[in-house]
Amino acid sequence: MTRVKMPSVNPGLLSLLLFALPKAVNAVNDVDAGFDPYAASQVMVDKSSHSWEWGTAAEALLELYNPELSVFGSNPFPNGKVPQADPSTTALAYAKQFINRNSQTLVNDTAVGDPASLGVSAILLGQSDSVYIGAANRESDFLLNVAPRWSNGAISHRPDVAELWADNMAMSFPFLAYLAVQHNDTSLMSLTVQQCGLQRAVLKGNSLSWQHIIGPQSQDTGLWSTSNGWAGYGMVRVLHTLQKWSGSASMTSQASQLKGWIKEILDGAIQSSLDSGLLRNYLNDGSWFGEISGTAVLSAVAYRMAVNDPNMFPQSYITWADSNRRSLAQKQNSGGLFSPAVNPYNWHDRTKYTAGSPEGQAFAVYLYTAYRDCVNAGICQA
Ligand SMILES: *[C@@H]1O[C@H](CO)[C@@H](O)[C@H](O)[C@H]1NC(C)=O
Ligand SMILES: *[C@@H]1O[C@H](CO)[C@@H](O)[C@H](O)[C@H]1NC(C)=O
Repeated sequence: MTRVKMPSVNPGLLSLLLFALPKAVNAVNDVDAGFDPYAASQVMVDKSSHSWEWGTAAEALLELYNPELSVFGSNPFPNGKVPQADPSTTALAYAKQFINRNSQTLVNDTAVGDPASLGVSAILLGQSDSVYIGAANRESDFLLNVAPRWSNGAISHRPDVAELWADNMAMSFPFLAYLAVQHNDTSLMSLTVQQCGLQRAVLKGNSLSWQHIIGPQSQDTGLWSTSNGWAGYGMVRVLHTLQKWSGSASMTSQASQLKGWIKEILDGAIQSSLDSGLLRNYLNDGSWFGEISGTAVLSAVAYRMAVNDPNMFPQSYITWADSNRRSLAQKQNSGGLFSPAVNPYNWHDRTKYTAGSPEGQAFAVYLYTAYRDCVNAGICQA
């Protein structure tokens, strides 16, 4: 998310290069999505080198290999608590190598939100090693008490000025919602939903879709496809955390708010024109090429919401996601790599990115897990 400067590289990066994933382990649940999510995830792991990419990849690995531990599982909070996760599970062993154990933030970085993308992994690791709960607590202290605020109270994505990025919706807020469960803290859950609304109040312009960045440093009022996906998928994760935790069972009005905000983003995407079967890099701009990253993550949002609330997100959402999924299946090469993507380090780059976008690869995994879970729920067609 910060494409300003490379973050410090943890020593774990060296072992990352050798991080080989299991090929397929969920044989019982696996479905044919038309592409190979396991090959996609190996490319994702091989290419990831920044804090937000590590956190985004860890979430993808959790959904792929241990869906019962993710907030999309049927009972992710037994007895109202974060589950006792084995730290050797693929996602957690992967994430562990990047997480600072004794710093203010989970990764030393130049953005506020990006290190928080590893926060859910830290909390799960914390079930067997409390050092990681301490690390998660310091990360939340940074977000809630140190980071600058917009005039309406929205948490900045930049540490030196108040500037809001839609990208941060997938970084800080799924973590804060999950931390609310860890601490049995309904106030923190409410605050997290309220923050989503404050971010939306600034970033959603006159259209259904969100603008990318509002602030004095890197303002981008364009409707970046990827950042609409960050916002949509981030709120999908907050919503599921809230709904599946017994402590927030009564927070139905907040759940309804989140659903409405997610629906705006999906409806904005659905109304946007395609190029080669893919959403354009900027949703309202016909001069841009279609690319895989935003298409994959927004389609994943559609599948997740079709399962979550079939009345509010009926068959038309599934039909749209199915069509995108079939287009995407044609964009994966035999090595597992999807292209063309937008350059993940420069969203204004008009050159199609074909080297393998770490976030784009992760979004393809999200698309797979969302489709898999929709088929297994009997709502999507295999
Ligand atoms: C991160 O920053 C803290 C505080 O400046 C420092 O103590 C720590 O060594 C840094 N960690 C890494 C991995 O660079
Ligand atoms: C959470 O707090 C509530 C209210 O104080 C309490 O009834 C409940 O038992 C707590 N849950 C856990 C898992 O500690």
